[in-house]
Amino acid sequence: MHFNTRFLLTLLATVSQFGSSSAAGWTNADSNWMNFINGNWKLNQINIPGTHDSGTYNIRDDYGWIGNEIKVAYARTQDLSIMKQLESGIRYLDIRLGDDDDDDVIIVHGDLYGESLANGKNDKGENLTLKQVLNDCRNFLNTHVTETIIIHLKNESNCKGIPFFDAHQIGIDSGNCLNSDRQKIVNNLTSNKNYYFTEKRMPKLNEVRGKIVVATRETDYNGMYLTFPGNRSKEIRLCSSNPSFKCAFDNNYRCCIQDAYELAENEKWEAIIRIINEQNKSYNQGDSRIENTLDINFMSTTVGTLKLVANSLKKN
Ligand SMILES: *[C@@H]1O[C@H](CO)[C@@H](O)[C@H](O)[C@H]1NC(C)=O
Ligand SMILES: *[C@@H]1O[C@H](CO)[C@@H](O)[C@H](O)[C@H]1NC(C)=O
Ligand SMILES: *[C@@H]1O[C@H](CO)[C@@H](O)[C@H](O)[C@H]1NC(C)=O
Ligand SMILES: *[C@@H]1O[C@H](CO)[C@@H](O)[C@H](O)[C@H]1NC(C)=O
Ligand SMILES: *[C@@H]1O[C@H](CO)[C@@H](O)[C@H](O)[C@H]1NC(C)=O
Repeated sequence: MHFNTRFLLTLLATVSQFGSSSAAGWTNADSNWMNFINGNWKLNQINIPGTHDSGTYNIRDDYGWIGNEIKVAYARTQDLSIMKQLESGIRYLDIRLGDDDDDDVIIVHGDLYGESLANGKNDKGENLTLKQVLNDCRNFLNTHVTETIIIHLKNESNCKGIPFFDAHQIGIDSGNCLNSDRQKIVNNLTSNKNYYFTEKRMPKLNEVRGKIVVATRETDYNGMYLTFPGNRSKEIRLCSSNPSFKCAFDNNYRCCIQDAYELAENEKWEAIIRIINEQNKSYNQGDSRIENTLDINFMSTTVGTLKLVANSLKKN
């Protein structure tokens, strides 16, 4: 499927009922697909596949309690390492940040779970650090120079280690984290302009081949600032129903977002397709706003997870 001048950022949760990743079967063309894309196109004009909670492939249950098995089945949204995701064509990584006790910035999925369960692990069983993820990306780009990788950085917990979801649930202030260690570490790691694009504008592909584009939901990390809200309910933010909704940079970009994840499978597909159809219609009608439109079409859902839990229990 190839959409010319189409603006889709598609997040695939490999462990959803809609897809299952296969650990093999991709080709060189998958690893270098951006080689075939016109470098004068801006990133929002390219249909870019991404993964949801990209760093969770090694999330494990360290405690052996059955409740934890269930949490892990929810939290492990990927079963490929970052490198394998990149080799199979993924170019957008959803990176959720937390801190560990040694002042490392680590990958967590702490939205639903306590942090001890939430840490992604590397192959040695250590906490997966942001540094390691970025190193993987850079190693990939060293040998795939036509490609670019968008990393989306989002706080999953505040600087006191309290997962936001829990903080909201129990009604505590998530705290003032300005000038925190995490902020300094993140900005330091992404400071080398030879490897990272952190400007607040939409680049053309040619400007960022071989580089990591930092996109962030936080105001104090360097990078392209995105402001779209998360929403677990059935909300679909079609451009036509929210014509003035801006989502990025200096308020010049409008977003069409589909992020409804508590839907039945058929409803979810309808939601995904509505975004595609709406943009197709705008494109066919020559709508000039489309150049400054960013489509974000999340494909993940939590529906059907019971089956997953059962599989996970079987596997272990
Ligand atoms: C991983 O991070 C948690 C804090 O989030 C920490 O308690 C734990 O000691 C860390 N594990 C390792 C192996 O560093
Ligand atoms: C995200 O974390 C950074 C570093 O701790 C902090 O400076 C920033 O305020 C946080 N953002 C939000 C929205 O909590
Ligand atoms: C980032 O941290 C490293 C190691 O601590 C340090 O040598 C370097 O100067 C820092 N870079 C910037 C831009 O702060
Ligand atoms: C989420 O979507 C629901 C339904 O459209 C809406 O009522 C609610 O305000 C939204 N929440 C946020 C944080 O946008
Ligand atoms: C987009 O519109 C064109 C022209 O009407 C049509 O041929 C094509 O099938 C549409 N694509 C999708 C994905 O609906």
